[in-house]
Amino acid sequence: MSAITPRVFSGVQPTGNLHLGNYLGAIRRFVTLQESHDCLYCVVDLHSITAQLVHEDLAGQTRSITAAFLAAGIDPKRHIVFNQSRVSGHAELAWVFNCVARIGWMNRMTQFKEKAGKDRENASLGLLAYPSLMAADILLYRATHVPVGDDQKQHLELTRDIAVKFNNDFAARIEALGLTTDLPAEAPDAAPARGYFPVTQPLIEGAATRVMSLKDGSKKMSKSDPSDLSRINLTDDAEAISRKVRKAKTDPDALPSEAEGLKGRPEADNLVSIYAALAGRPVAEILAEFGGQQFSAFKPALADLAVHVLSPITEEMRRLEADPGHIDAVLKDGGERAGAIAEATMRDVKSIVGFLHG
Ligand code: TYM
Repeated sequence: MSAITPRVFSGVQPTGNLHLGNYLGAIRRFVTLQESHDCLYCVVDLHSITAQLVHEDLAGQTRSITAAFLAAGIDPKRHIVFNQSRVSGHAELAWVFNCVARIGWMNRMTQFKEKAGKDRENASLGLLAYPSLMAADILLYRATHVPVGDDQKQHLELTRDIAVKFNNDFAARIEALGLTTDLPAEAPDAAPARGYFPVTQPLIEGAATRVMSLKDGSKKMSKSDPSDLSRINLTDDAEAISRKVRKAKTDPDALPSEAEGLKGRPEADNLVSIYAALAGRPVAEILAEFGGQQFSAFKPALADLAVHVLSPITEEMRRLEADPGHIDAVLKDGGERAGAIAEATMRDVKSIVGFLHG
């Protein structure tokens, strides 16, 4: 019996432009976690065909997300960067998980309800099974930590449910095969759990786990919002960033001096949180500085800060995208290294389930 190595996995879909929410809620966290963990960062192309089957340039989108990972500071040599469809274990393990998970669990997913809309019968089967593939992404590497934005919380709870059910359903076989592992304890003082798959910890932390639309403080900033003014894209130049910040919706009052004063002011709350996240400073400190000032003073400061943080990334992305051969080589190398880990897991899973192999 062995202990599981702490390992980080996260994924980003190659659909549409990456925006400030993706950067602050996820990608920037990916970069910091490299210092303390072994990390796998994946462009989840299999997921991207669940809501829309035919894409004009899926390969180009995949390269563009990869370029954003690298430009933000992810090191593909010390860690693993790859696209999901290269490693067949994702689809294989997802199939097993489709048989572990229950239809009721999937039907309860709010993202499924949102994406499927009113015509649920007509949604793809893949869209319903989406969280099961997500669980497979994570557990194929027996990842222990998953940095994501707040919108993925429910999917990560389901990943935990799938891991627990698999560990329970197959407990006797896991034990008989000597594949039982000491899993990290849920809390520092709790006893370690046992099983094959770890019960993954979501990492949803920081000031920007839910960046809201610049046009409506009650809606999440999203790739699919029809208004481009609602989001800052990682491809926007300084001029576009300043224009979008200038046009961002606000209320007529001055900024409060304390966080309490942001209650009931979603747009103000969002802009202050974005500033705090970009500056890497607490909200209280930002309000101590800008409290009492009008948005006409705050917005230019926010635009300058956003340009200062994002421009180097945007420029580096452009430079990288001009050399698709290099990006493809990174993905191929990452795919091979991810594939080796995945193969070992799939060998165990096949033995546990009882499939003949080897
Ligand atoms: P995706 O591609 O929609 O988003 C990528 C990451 O960005 C975060 N995010 C946000 N964070 C803060 N504010 C926002 N407005 C905002 N919008 C998006 C998301 O939470 C995410 O972390 N299902 C996933 C991809 C995925 C995955 C995985 C993630 C597939 N397999 C395994 C983790 C582990 C998705 O569609 O993310």
